[in-house]
Amino acid sequence: MTDPEALTEDFETVSASVGDEAEGVVTVTISRPDARNALDAQVRSELTDVLAAIEADEASRVLVLTGDSEGKAFVAGADITEFQDRGPIEQRKASERPRIYERVADLSVPVIARINGHALGGGCELAQACDVRVAADVAKLGQPEINLGIIPGGGGTQRLPRLVGEGQAMRLILSGELIEAAEAAEIGLVDVVCSLDTLDNEVYGLAESMAAKSPLALEFAKTAVQASSQMDLDDGIEYEAELFSQLFATEDKDEGITAFFEDRDPEWRGR
Ligand code: COA
Repeated sequence: MTDPEALTEDFETVSASVGDEAEGVVTVTISRPDARNALDAQVRSELTDVLAAIEADEASRVLVLTGDSEGKAFVAGADITEFQDRGPIEQRKASERPRIYERVADLSVPVIARINGHALGGGCELAQACDVRVAADVAKLGQPEINLGIIPGGGGTQRLPRLVGEGQAMRLILSGELIEAAEAAEIGLVDVVCSLDTLDNEVYGLAESMAAKSPLALEFAKTAVQASSQMDLDDGIEYEAELFSQLFATEDKDEGITAFFEDRDPEWRGR
């Protein structure tokens, strides 16, 4: 078992805290205060390592991903200085998957984006790769890449329309307009909006509730819901039935049903 907290001891741009806010909940904070927590190669590399450690750690049931408050942002995008002298061959290499966006989306545990400030460009795409987005009302969100003569390259042209519909995605991506968290909630880009003061209550209340569930059921539920945007309806329902049936082979299903009839809390084993 790997301890993400120990793993990030030597990291400069990413830190992890385990169980501080709620049992089974890991918080990973992206920290580049001088660059509004923008994603450069070092952040991407350190984030990749800490995500792998979380995946390997049975005690990590839910991940909360956030930006350092000192950086006054969630994440203000990819680091624009890296784009300056980059040609297409180099960019094609940098775009090879899996990148951090895929690593976050493919993590077996639920991931909550704690959007404490601006989530722009790659930061907005990182939030879109998470399973649930909770935003403070001070945050602005958007895909301003068009202002730089480029387009979203971290999955935004694909994930954003799935969240908000093609029209709203076109509006945001083609105009580069930033929207307030409240509007982001209205169109479905974020799932909960609250004041900065109540952000932790919202985020960790949700995270704690998830962390108390069977890790297997969480993983299967996440996989099944993700399939809804990857498969047509019939195939998706077939896939759900398969995952549903597979859970009937688990100890956690037996424990959940038994605990219900014994009127007690279940003790999940993750098997
Ligand atoms: N990449 C690299 N550096 C960035 C950055 C990014 N995506 N976003 C912000 N920074 C840097 C700024 O260059 C500035 O550096 P400096 O102090 O050396 O001049 C520092 O972070 C603070 O940013 P600043 O613009 O002065 O802060 P602000 O509070 O006025 O504005 C933002 C904050 C997030 C609105 C603004 O920085 C911004 O629009 N950033 C770019 C967003 C973007 O286009 N992202 C998509 C990238 S593909």
